[in-house]
Parts: sequence; structure tokens; C-alpha cells
Amino acid sequence: MSDSKLWLIVPAAGIGQRMRAECPKQYLRIDNRFILDITLSRMLDSGLFAGCMVPLNSEDRWWPSSGASKDDRIQTCNGGAERADSVLSALTALAAQAGADDWVLVHDAARPCVHPADLANLVSTLATHPVGGLLAAPVADTLKKAKPNALPEVIGTVDRSQLWRAMTPQMFRYAKLVEALRRALNKGQSVTDESSAMEFSGNMPVLVEGRSDNIKITVPADLDLAGFILSRF
Ligand code: CTP
Ligand code: MG
Repeated sequence: MSDSKLWLIVPAAGIGQRMRAECPKQYLRIDNRFILDITLSRMLDSGLFAGCMVPLNSEDRWWPSSGASKDDRIQTCNGGAERADSVLSALTALAAQAGADDWVLVHDAARPCVHPADLANLVSTLATHPVGGLLAAPVADTLKKAKPNALPEVIGTVDRSQLWRAMTPQMFRYAKLVEALRRALNKGQSVTDESSAMEFSGNMPVLVEGRSDNIKITVPADLDLAGFILSRF
């Protein structure tokens, strides 16, 4: 167990449709740095990883001007149509380097606010766990179920006591993650994170509580919010 290495995958092949910017959101700047550069340095500064693979969009023309492209700890490969395809492509690209029981941490390029203490806690909490897990935060708001009308109408209040928001990093063992993603993709199962793929294969990933400000930059307003969060630590 103790000789299990840790590998980092940062999927960055999305086009950021919901951000409606002139470039994919991972290449928007906070404090004059690409979001992708901030995310990668926050993760790699931990010194935890044996290597790092970043799947990129085949039409990406911004990567060469990133700081990360000059960092020899970082390798790149081609991403795919969905996030799960990009992650599987990165796992395949690591095949010759990673061992079956090694840990893989998958972390969204669009989550630059991940806190080093949460990363360290995730890794130490799961170090001897057979399956792995993910950073998550309990849902704080009251949740409403609604009819999808033009003006949505409430048809009920959902019990939130067992509900969590799934975040990244998500940490699983190399071979089991490859198998779970392949199975989900082959069965046409929609998997928006690695945990869903692991769950689909019958596993029960652990939720490790992390800070709720580990936001995924998704819409324009998130950019200022992330800038504020990053200015605080
Ligand atoms: N991602 C990826 N390959 C894809 C789609 C997404 O590597 N085919 C990555 C994104 O670059 C991002 C992460 O997965 O870092 C989370 O996805 P999301 O926030 O949905 O980003 P986008 O898909 O780019 O945004 P949108 O859904 O608004 O288009
Ligand atoms: Mg997306």
C-alpha cells in the first residue's frame, strides 16, 4: 500500500459553453494568470504527485502560452467529447507509468480555489481505503423540487440531510478507475464525475468533507468570486 504512487489528471479539454467567453474558461485570467496555471500550481505545489497528465482539446490554441506548458512535470494528451472521455484518455496515456494500485487524483481545471489542507486531508483520509473517494460539501440551502414551467412552481421540499455537493479532487485506484469508466462509457451511462463511474460499478466512494469555496468556475459571475477566494489564502 505504502508504495502506491499518486498521479494527477487535470481535465482541461472543455470549451466552457456556459461561460460564454472568447476562449475556454480555463484560459481566462485571474490576477493575470490562466485559471489552468493557477489550478495546476496549487495541486503540484503539494509535492504529492509522481506525474501529471492534462488532456487538452484538439483545437486548443492557448496551451503553448501557458506557464504549465513550460513545466516538465506536466504531460499532455488529447481529450475527448465528454469529461469522462478526456479522463479515460489521460488514464490511457499514463498506462506505461502508473501501477494498477496507484492512486489517481482527478481535479477539474476549472477549480483553482482548491485548498492545500483539503488536498492533504483527502489523501491522508483515503490512503489505506480500498475504493477511494472525493472532496464534497454538505448541502446548505433548502432544496425545492419544481415543475419546469417558464415560472417554475414548487411541488415539494427535498430532504437535504443526506445530500452532498460533489467536488474534486476525486481519488481512485488506477486500474479500478479505468475499468469503471470503460464500463460506464460502453453502457452509455452518463457519468459527470469519476465517482459516478465507480458507483455504477458497485463501489461506495467516501465523501471527505472539504471547504465549500472550492467552486467550479462555470458562469461569468464565478470569475470574480474565485478571484476573491484566491485573494484570501
Ligand atoms: N472537460 C474535459 N473534456 C470535456 C469536457 C470537460 O476535459 N470534453 C473538463 C473541463 O475543461 C473542466 C472540467 O472537465 O475543467 C469540468 O467540466 P465543466 O465545468 O463542465 O467545463 P466545460 O465542459 O468546459 O464547461 P461547459 O459545460 O459550460 O461547456
Ligand atoms: Mg461541461
